[in-house]
Amino acid sequence: MRHLLAVSDLSRADVDRLLDLTDAFAEVGRRRVPKVPALQGRTVTWLFYEDSTRTRLSFEQAAKRLSADTLNFSVSSSSVRKGESLRDTVETIEAMGVDAIVVRHGSSGVPAQIARWVSASVVNAGDGWHEHPTQALLDCYTIRAHLGGLDGVRIAIVGDVAHSRVARSDVWAFALMGAEVTLVAPPTLLPPSVEGWPVRVGHDLDAVLPDVDVVYLLRMQRERMTEALVPSLREYSARFGLTGRRVEHMGDKALVMHPGPMNRGVEIAADVAELPRSVVVDQVRNGVAVRMAVLFELLGSGPIRPGGPG
Ligand code: CP
Repeated sequence: MRHLLAVSDLSRADVDRLLDLTDAFAEVGRRRVPKVPALQGRTVTWLFYEDSTRTRLSFEQAAKRLSADTLNFSVSSSSVRKGESLRDTVETIEAMGVDAIVVRHGSSGVPAQIARWVSASVVNAGDGWHEHPTQALLDCYTIRAHLGGLDGVRIAIVGDVAHSRVARSDVWAFALMGAEVTLVAPPTLLPPSVEGWPVRVGHDLDAVLPDVDVVYLLRMQRERMTEALVPSLREYSARFGLTGRRVEHMGDKALVMHPGPMNRGVEIAADVAELPRSVVVDQVRNGVAVRMAVLFELLGSGPIRPGGPG
């Protein structure tokens, strides 16, 4: 692998290999000194044109735990504000000697475009409504850790699918790993067509809840909505929000997931987010090990040595 741009570029064997590698790096994270010299001498930087807490910080943590050098770049305090173009910015950063560029951008396809301009590896950290592949990998890893695997696991992805790059990556990753995916949303929050997507579609959350192993809630992405796609957030929440009453209809071992940031009281009730079956914090924790695996896969020299990455 030279770049990680989309789940649709990955095979099942790629995902299995990355998740196995994640296991090794999760073990590193539990050590007293959670650091290995695997990427000594390599440099990683990030180009985030959109806000982020989890993805940005977990890539930084991952790079540091692998002993890579990190070059901090903040779009908001850079020459981008003086009008520097994307291409000039990227070529300037590359000229300083970077091995990987982690990119988040509001427009779909920007990471792929950057990959055509540079010789460094490019990782898509979320582009427009297109994809967020490391989120999908950490979601697969979290489900595998809790349920033993994804084969035959029934997953409902609930909410604002239309604007969600997480949903687009998760649908393909979950299906690739053998899960059965159902999208649950009002018609206005589904893409105009899901023809060719490996999913079922439903509009009644209460009907779906008893028959799923995972309820994956999506954030209502109000910043991406150009019109009122639901009558009101209160009405959306009444029909599609995961409340304590609704959780009572889920299976005993069924999980609640959310990519964050959560709108508590909209797609998820505050008390539901705190239940033991809610694995949102595990998702964040696993994000560091998954991103270590991705950086190692792209920049590490050769296969991981038997006995672990240390
Ligand atoms: N899940 C996710 O991408 O979160 P951030 O926007 O905080 O990175």
